[in-house]
Amino acid sequence: MLLEGKTAIVTGGSSGNGRAIAAGFVAQGAKVVVADLSEQPREGGVPTVEMIEADHPDQSRFAACDVSKVADLEALVRTATDWTGRLDIMVNNAGILRKEPILEATEATFNAMVDVNVKSVLFGSQAAARVMVEQKSGVILNMCSIAGMRGTSGFVHYNMTKGAVRLISYSLADELGPHGIRVNNVAPGIMRTAMNVEDDPVIGTEQGESYLPMIPARRWGEPSEVADACVYLASDLAAYVTGITHVVDGGYLRI
Ligand SMILES: NC(=O)c1ccc[n+]([C@@H]2O[C@H](COP(=O)([O-])OP(=O)(O)OC[C@H]3O[C@@H](n4cnc5c(N)ncnc54)[C@H](O)[C@@H]3O)[C@@H](O)[C@H]2O)c1
Repeated sequence: MLLEGKTAIVTGGSSGNGRAIAAGFVAQGAKVVVADLSEQPREGGVPTVEMIEADHPDQSRFAACDVSKVADLEALVRTATDWTGRLDIMVNNAGILRKEPILEATEATFNAMVDVNVKSVLFGSQAAARVMVEQKSGVILNMCSIAGMRGTSGFVHYNMTKGAVRLISYSLADELGPHGIRVNNVAPGIMRTAMNVEDDPVIGTEQGESYLPMIPARRWGEPSEVADACVYLASDLAAYVTGITHVVDGGYLRI
């Protein structure tokens, strides 16, 4: 049990990567607040808390939260501390993807992407850090992407936001390290979630399948593999790991 006695928050925990991270944390002994706009998984199935409850009763609870609102993030942290009296792990995972070529890019998309993908990470980290500094311990994990490491045509908004997430973590690792708080990024490649099936249909399309030869592992990633990286980074196995970007991409980037 790598996370026994820990309290965690996972934003965007109803679907995809966040759902797997929440389940992975509970399997390692943590109590998890699953935060999202809606309890319904985008990919279908029962809500995350219901799924977890089957094997681990009283280890998780749902909190309605719009991560683009600072007041919601502060209330979310209070949900965790009111429940267990502490907050050990904050996973700023919620995010959105909109594909928009630069000649068609709109201010509305820019603002939405910054609000949900960047503002949420900075103020989610702030709200968590206020508790963690008092505790003198904690781990913050921010969901970056291989799209935060290199640019791709049509994804200027997404690339920009994930690049920003990467640097937020490096900055906070420096600032919060002396308080016993570690801050790292997780950068998934192409994972099997609604984002790659609905928002940017890669998986299951002819064009998408043409990317597979570029991935040394020759397959898409599974959300459980993002969760495994998060368990490691959140645990004491990574006690001397901070200020890094942990890539989980089947070798796609090779950097
Ligand atoms: N799927 C991939 O291949 C991939 C690759 C790299 C990075 N990521 C990142 O992983 C994270 C999760 O992606 P996913 O693929 O699981 O996506 P997903 O769309 O399956 O799940 C995202 C979840 O975030 C929630 N969410 C969206 N906006 C929100 C808001 N304002 N407040 C609260 N919750 C909100 C959604 O309701 C959903 O449950 C994102 O940050 C994404 O950018 C995904």
